[in-house]
Amino acid sequence: MTAPTTEPAAPTPAAAHEPPVIELRDLRRTFPGEPPVEALRGVDLTVHRGDYVSVVGPSGSGKSTLLHILGLLDRPTAGDYVLDGVPTRELSEQDRSRLRGGRIGFVFQSFHLLPHRSVLDNVLLATLYSGVPRATRRTRALAALERVGMSHRLDFLPPVLSGGERQRVAVARAVVTSPDVLLADEPTGNLDSSNSAGVLDLFDELHRDGLTLVVITHDDVVSAHARRRVRISDGLLDEVA
Ligand SMILES: Nc1ncnc2c1ncn2[C@@H]1O[C@H](COP(=O)(O)OP(=O)(O)OP(=O)(O)O)[C@@H](O)[C@H]1O
Ligand SMILES: [Mg+2]
Repeated sequence: MTAPTTEPAAPTPAAAHEPPVIELRDLRRTFPGEPPVEALRGVDLTVHRGDYVSVVGPSGSGKSTLLHILGLLDRPTAGDYVLDGVPTRELSEQDRSRLRGGRIGFVFQSFHLLPHRSVLDNVLLATLYSGVPRATRRTRALAALERVGMSHRLDFLPPVLSGGERQRVAVARAVVTSPDVLLADEPTGNLDSSNSAGVLDLFDELHRDGLTLVVITHDDVVSAHARRRVRISDGLLDEVA
């Protein structure tokens, strides 16, 4: 069914009327073992639409554990995670996959591109389980690659690209579905300072366009780009002034 074309919707008055994109309440994650590892020990976090949040903290403090839970790649041991108004606790794996595909974009330190698929295919594949209508997939993939400045490399395979180029393709793949939130785990960890600056500029632009970003990092330069900083230490979160 196609909606009639009307004038653009009025701008949303205030994000306050919408549910937060992310809401964590007393979230805990304990990994079994002798002794068990309490990687997250009661985390509360609210992220509103359009926020740009960095999560900093030392190695082993629980950053990736938190990101995996935010990305619905892992489940908390206790506590609640509400994603865009949807409580995730009781969801089936299938519903979690659907929610992940449609609402979350990921960027990882080591890019995670498919080495034997072209740049364009890598981005197109992200649209498959995301609710993006088939007819618009290619146009959207091309637009996402244009936006990250990679239109001149559509047929290249990832292994021949530079690190910065690979990460730009990964960002295109993450945003092609118009996710509610972009989650990044050490997105500049494998990049030199100039490529790292390129990726951070891209994040700034995406943020200006209204995307919500949560970026995990060790790096103060990366964290300085965010509008809001939280620190995780030994499984507990603190807001940084
Ligand atoms: N699957 C697992 N099984 C057992 N322990 C785990 C598992 N995953 C993580 N941990 C432990 O949980 C703690 C938090 O790990 P996590 O990967 O979240 O740290 P991090 O902050 O991302 O560290 P880094 O900066 O080194 O990436 C660590 O002590 C780690 O050893
Ligand atoms: Mg980590």
